[in-house]
Amino acid sequence: MKRILICGGNGLLGQRLSLLLSTQTEFEVLSTSHHRSYVFDSRLFDYTQLDITRKGDAKSLISSFQPDVIFNAAAATNVDWCESHRDEAWKVNVVGVENLIEGARKVGAKFIHVSTDYVFDGKHGPYKEDDPPNPISYYGKTKLAGENAIRISDIPYALVRTIVVYGNMIGKRGNFALWVINNLRSGQKIRCAEDQVSNPTYVGDLACALIRIFELNRGGIYHICGAEHLSRYHFAKRIADIFGLDGGLIQSVKTSELNQQAPRPLVSGFLTSKAEEELGWKPMDTTRGLTMLKQELQAERRN
Ligand SMILES: NC(=O)c1ccc[n+]([C@@H]2O[C@H](COP(=O)([O-])OP(=O)(O)OC[C@H]3O[C@@H](n4cnc5c(N)ncnc54)[C@H](OP(=O)(O)O)[C@@H]3O)[C@@H](O)[C@H]2O)c1
Repeated sequence: MKRILICGGNGLLGQRLSLLLSTQTEFEVLSTSHHRSYVFDSRLFDYTQLDITRKGDAKSLISSFQPDVIFNAAAATNVDWCESHRDEAWKVNVVGVENLIEGARKVGAKFIHVSTDYVFDGKHGPYKEDDPPNPISYYGKTKLAGENAIRISDIPYALVRTIVVYGNMIGKRGNFALWVINNLRSGQKIRCAEDQVSNPTYVGDLACALIRIFELNRGGIYHICGAEHLSRYHFAKRIADIFGLDGGLIQSVKTSELNQQAPRPLVSGFLTSKAEEELGWKPMDTTRGLTMLKQELQAERRN
């Protein structure tokens, strides 16, 4: 039986990976995250607290669990927070990754790590895997440093970059689609950038691609994102359409008007032909991803 360790199991992606993998009988899955408690009922799924910045804890947990694979969905992900909390961001996104690499090396585990389009400057998107990175935010710099630590290590790895991930999650910490839905439902006006263009990614589709990489034992870098190249404004409009909400509340603005602390890559997005050819995976279109999200939210309300 393959043993799978998930780091960041309380987050948007980590929750989805935990759900998809823990329900399969051929895997023994241990989810971990920073917080003491788990978002799911820990009588259903195995969970233990792990702060990946604590080298000794990471090493001893990995040595005792002996995973075949480590999925790393743990990160400091708030881009503006990272800009003003540089030491803390570096500690999680770089030192934490180095600690997991060291643990993986000791037990011979494969390391499947998640990174971001923010490693690019957003001048020439959509990007392919071998385009040169040039991060413009501190978050992007930390994520690139984490990538580089993996690339120069001698462990088997896959590095999956993704973009604007959306989906339902327990706890509902920030995620662009849920933010749009919640604001429009309560009749609040929102301002969305018309000049930030990328491919929003449904979390279930991303999790499936990661699992495919594991099952097919693929390595190297993969770009995984949704099928459509949309501005944040047009993405918000599509959300309003699918959810039957008032799209008139969405105002189109320039990124410069939002006064965000960290600079954003404006013309981002990925080309996914490598993943499509090597993984037999097809990116999901936005309407389908949002319809899945709608069904998940409806099912949650019924329960
Ligand atoms: N969401 C996006 O739009 C997006 C876009 C591109 C790339 N990505 C990448 O995708 C990955 C997953 O992102 P996500 O959206 O799922 O993020 P998320 O919802 O913010 O979850 C991140 C998780 O990391 C955990 N974490 C933070 N610091 C930790 C530490 N020191 N030790 C252990 N766990 C720690 C948090 O744990 P607790 O909850 O237990 O505190 C949280 O569960 C990240 O690598 C991110 O950079 C995300």
